[in-house]
Amino acid sequence: MIIAAVIAVTGEIAIPLLTKSVIDTAIKHGSVRQLVPLAIAAMALGAMQAGLNFYRRWVQAGAVTGMERAIRDDLYHHLQVLHAGFHDQWQSGQLLSRATTDLSTIRRFAGFGIVFLITNAWTFLVIVAVLIHLNWWLGLLTGCVFAPVSYLCLRFEKKYGVLSRRAQDQQGDLATYVEEAAGGIRVLKSLGRQREATAQHSAQSQQVYQTQIAKAGLRGAFWASLDVAPNAAIGVVLLFGALAVSWHQLTIGGLVAFVTMTLLLIWPIEATGFIIATGQEAATAAQRIYEILDTEPEITDTPAALQRPALPAASQAGAGHLVFDDVVFRYPGAPEPVLRGLNLELKPGETVALVGATGSGKSTLLQLVPRLADVTGGSITLDGVDIRDLPLAALRARVACAFEDATLFSASVRENVSYGGPEASEEAIMAALAAAQADFVADLPWGADTRIGEQGMALSGGQRQRVALARAILASPQVLLLDDPLSALDVHTEAKVTAALADVLGETTALVVAHRPSTVQLADRVALLSGGVIVAVGSHKELLATEPRYRHLMSADAELPDGGPHDNGLAEPGLASGARR
Ligand SMILES: Nc1ncnc2c1ncn2[C@@H]1O[C@H](COP(=O)(O)OP(=O)(O)OP(=O)(O)O)[C@@H](O)[C@H]1O
Ligand SMILES: [Mg+2]
Repeated sequence: MIIAAVIAVTGEIAIPLLTKSVIDTAIKHGSVRQLVPLAIAAMALGAMQAGLNFYRRWVQAGAVTGMERAIRDDLYHHLQVLHAGFHDQWQSGQLLSRATTDLSTIRRFAGFGIVFLITNAWTFLVIVAVLIHLNWWLGLLTGCVFAPVSYLCLRFEKKYGVLSRRAQDQQGDLATYVEEAAGGIRVLKSLGRQREATAQHSAQSQQVYQTQIAKAGLRGAFWASLDVAPNAAIGVVLLFGALAVSWHQLTIGGLVAFVTMTLLLIWPIEATGFIIATGQEAATAAQRIYEILDTEPEITDTPAALQRPALPAASQAGAGHLVFDDVVFRYPGAPEPVLRGLNLELKPGETVALVGATGSGKSTLLQLVPRLADVTGGSITLDGVDIRDLPLAALRARVACAFEDATLFSASVRENVSYGGPEASEEAIMAALAAAQADFVADLPWGADTRIGEQGMALSGGQRQRVALARAILASPQVLLLDDPLSALDVHTEAKVTAALADVLGETTALVVAHRPSTVQLADRVALLSGGVIVAVGSHKELLATEPRYRHLMSADAELPDGGPHDNGLAEPGLASGARR
């Protein structure tokens, strides 16, 4: 592509030289015979140029679009590989603007800028060389007129780089803001805060506007100053060229070639301004994309994990022995650990309910099992193997989760459920939906084919939870982690789900976060999480009898002994005083 472009512009430069020959030989000698081959050469050059330009554009479109797609795929793949903590730290709008605006900025430069940057530099060098060949001092003089251009370019590049980075970051912030406002539109409307939201948005978009205006101002000044050089060069050529002709140092044809070639420099020099501007934008865009690509995923397969022999089949009896051994976990940047030496053992096939005050670290504990985050101390073992020594894919094939905020994707109910088991049969999907008591699916307009999630049928909180539960059940994992899976269900539906789950959970080791006595009934044992450790394990009845903190969590009207929640750090002061009343 670049070779075609370089040959094409070289052909263009040759035309003034033909003109020179026409004037200095054919016209001077009045010879038509000499004119014919020159005319044919000029036509051939024109045809070659047209052909090469067509070829360049044709190759360019495919190459550039392919490159954009490759970067986009790499970026998406990398976002999937990066640990969950990365996504906590990055605003979604910043990721979005990188995957869209920044990528198209790079494509624009790659499709246009790079080629012309090279051909323009080539044109300039060849023309100056030919000019020096025609008349060395006039050629050098003309070349020197353009020298300040490079200084201008360097200065502009630095200033423009800062502004374009600012503009791209601000656009990312704006994208985050718009995305949040769209997602939270009900909250904004119900609180009557549209006016404030609009004001805040226009303040942010005002910043983007100002940066863009500053960019345009800088660009305008730079481009205008670039116009000066070629015009000054033409003045120099006309004045000194005429002198050179009168001193017999240059032929008339040579002067015409000189002027035509200097005119050929106008566009490349002017375009340099545009090319440098888009190049600088593309450079900052690439820098922003590399900030993601250069982030190493923190949770990966260890060398030990990759060397492990094949794992026992998921359905193997007696598998699913999950042990938390002195587990410590602290969120990056948090001053205090959430879990401080937690011990808990789940025997194969056992269901343990995890109970603890809000904010005590239940969800945090659950996410450690599929290694969405790694423990900062201690270890978690599955069937005697540290989970960090298992290949991630194998670990996650054995563990399934239903999280607190039943996230569904923009797809049909069936597709959402089959995220749990992509190869599952239709019967298995229906059975999972039935176990989760998601019978409402049959009443949806297109049954299990109804699109849900964004831009689809809106489901109620409890309906979403049941679809998410079916998804986890369909995975038929060895270890099932349920984070308060029935919180949005009424007591009767909850009882039905609980009964169905008891069947499903037969072979499966399950850790179920529960807030309500009815969910706790599901479990073989109950573990009470407080102060970052498991403070008690036992049956629901035992704990009710022996653990005042458990009694307090399970029933609002239980009397607390002295030194209750304040001392054991179980509940927030507000909750505690409510209970005391
Ligand atoms: N991504 C995070 N980064 C930093 N701190 C976090 C993060 N997620 C949770 N925390 C903190 O960790 C603590 C435990 O949170 P966690 O979500 O595990 O509580 P929980 O027991 O599940 O509460 P709930 O019953 O309300 O769901 C809280 O103090 C919370 O502020
Ligand atoms: Mg939670």
